[in-house]
Amino acid sequence: MTSIDKIVTIPEFYRGKTVFVTGGSGFIGKVLIEKLLRSCPDIGNIYILLRPKKNVSPKTRISTLTNTILFDSVKELHPENIDKLKYVEGDIRSINLGISQDDLEMLRTNIDIIIHIAATIRFTADLTDAALANIRGTRDICHLALSMERKPILMHVSTCYCHHDNNCIEEKMYAPHGDWRKIIEIAETMDRHTLNVMTCKMKGVKHNTYTFTKALAEQTVHDLCVGKIPTIIFRPSIVIGIYEDHIPGYFEGYSGQIGYLIGVLSGIMKCANIPADSTTETVPVDLISKGIINSIWMKGTDQSDEDVSIYNGTGRDLIEYDLHDLNKSLFNVFKETKTELNWYPTWALFDTYIFYYLYFLIFQLFPSLIGDCLISLKKHRPYLVRLQRTLFGFTNLLDYFVKNTWDIQNTKFLNSVANASVHNDDFTVKKPNIDVNIEEKMLLDHVHFILVHYLNKKLTGKPTNLIKLWILWIVWRMIEMSVLVFGVYLVYSIFN
Ligand SMILES: NC(=O)c1ccc[n+]([C@@H]2O[C@H](COP(=O)([O-])OP(=O)(O)OC[C@H]3O[C@@H](n4cnc5c(N)ncnc54)[C@H](OP(=O)(O)O)[C@@H]3O)[C@@H](O)[C@H]2O)c1
Repeated sequence: MTSIDKIVTIPEFYRGKTVFVTGGSGFIGKVLIEKLLRSCPDIGNIYILLRPKKNVSPKTRISTLTNTILFDSVKELHPENIDKLKYVEGDIRSINLGISQDDLEMLRTNIDIIIHIAATIRFTADLTDAALANIRGTRDICHLALSMERKPILMHVSTCYCHHDNNCIEEKMYAPHGDWRKIIEIAETMDRHTLNVMTCKMKGVKHNTYTFTKALAEQTVHDLCVGKIPTIIFRPSIVIGIYEDHIPGYFEGYSGQIGYLIGVLSGIMKCANIPADSTTETVPVDLISKGIINSIWMKGTDQSDEDVSIYNGTGRDLIEYDLHDLNKSLFNVFKETKTELNWYPTWALFDTYIFYYLYFLIFQLFPSLIGDCLISLKKHRPYLVRLQRTLFGFTNLLDYFVKNTWDIQNTKFLNSVANASVHNDDFTVKKPNIDVNIEEKMLLDHVHFILVHYLNKKLTGKPTNLIKLWILWIVWRMIEMSVLVFGVYLVYSIFN
């Protein structure tokens, strides 16, 4: 290995390098691209694989991609860098990624680094779709990488949870649960409905088609690229919003922990079935973008001499944030929230399914029913019960992952984001000061971001009125108690 003092800094390493990113229009992809354009100002062009979506062409999509507050800093600091963002039309579900011959040639000549993030992330996707996007798409990325003139570094973004069948998930390769070549062949040739019937048997111990195909995608990368080009597999845990980069709390989408928080703050979610002894592994998205950037730099500067470098990107032992923290910290955080609260957003956690179910029926479904009646009276289309049904399905899908606990090892990841830097402060994450309650800080940032950007609320600039908060809290508890007393009375009168 090279001595750390002689190694070029991260911005120097990326200077003039041309990068090809798939999944650049998604949450992780956008945060990563923004970081590259902002903190590595001399980077070369960044090509993003983009498909047409909802009748919007890639050309239009690329011009709207940077029109979010996320890119404001780049526009201010390095406005010329926005033009470095280019698109290549394609779709990971299509053979050869659906890229035209001309674009393939251009990529083969110019690319130094490939970051493959795109994937079908729906847990309920048909095996046909998941296999073609996640396994065949990854195979075609590998073929493209191997055909490139500059022997690029290949970074494949996977997920820790594709190895959920191991209690302890280490930063190493795992034996495959299937033959990726055969699965591609089956997905290409077998009728979708027949394959749906066989999916349960084929995925074996894997919980769903997402984890099954993501695990096989890792194997694909391993079998095709290791020993031929510098290869990295990077596995995030559950990704939450920005922790300390320029917009703390920034988030996109409705998945994972933040999906719960949006549900709680909007009032449509009031309970969950999460046992007290379960823990969820999360990681702020800025740690992920730094981890990806840093590990590529480490690979490219010979600081990592493994055949395939594997990182488990989880915040454990650095920045931890569990669903139970959300519950514990709500009151303290609402004290600091700079907005007018007209009701107390609450979240009850239950160990036992039956109590959760009862609470769900009374405090989520029933009020939604009443709400829908009122909406109908105003001659609008009711949507609240439909929303509750979707939410119920969504939480059931996550059930397995929030109720189980894994020991996810992340020493190499922590090393890449916390210790790897020499003159690279912009890319490291320091362990927070023990006097700072990091869960509450992160929750407050997320709450503010969601209130403004998801729920269209204005921040008042002053913390919530504490007396009002207490009154709202007491009112809510009284409603809960009254329903409980009424329920007990009802049961008593039925049986007597
Ligand atoms: N978010 C998490 O908590 C988490 C945790 C662990 C691992 N990961 C991994 O991180 C990656 C991205 O996650 P994310 O949260 O950023 O997801 P996301 O916001 O849903 O983004 C998915 C990206 O993949 C692209 N994509 C999907 N299907 C495609 C197709 N057929 N052709 C071309 N592009 C396609 C999407 O493009 P469009 O804009 O065209 O849809 C989008 O850019 C995935 O590989 C996932 O397995 C995420």
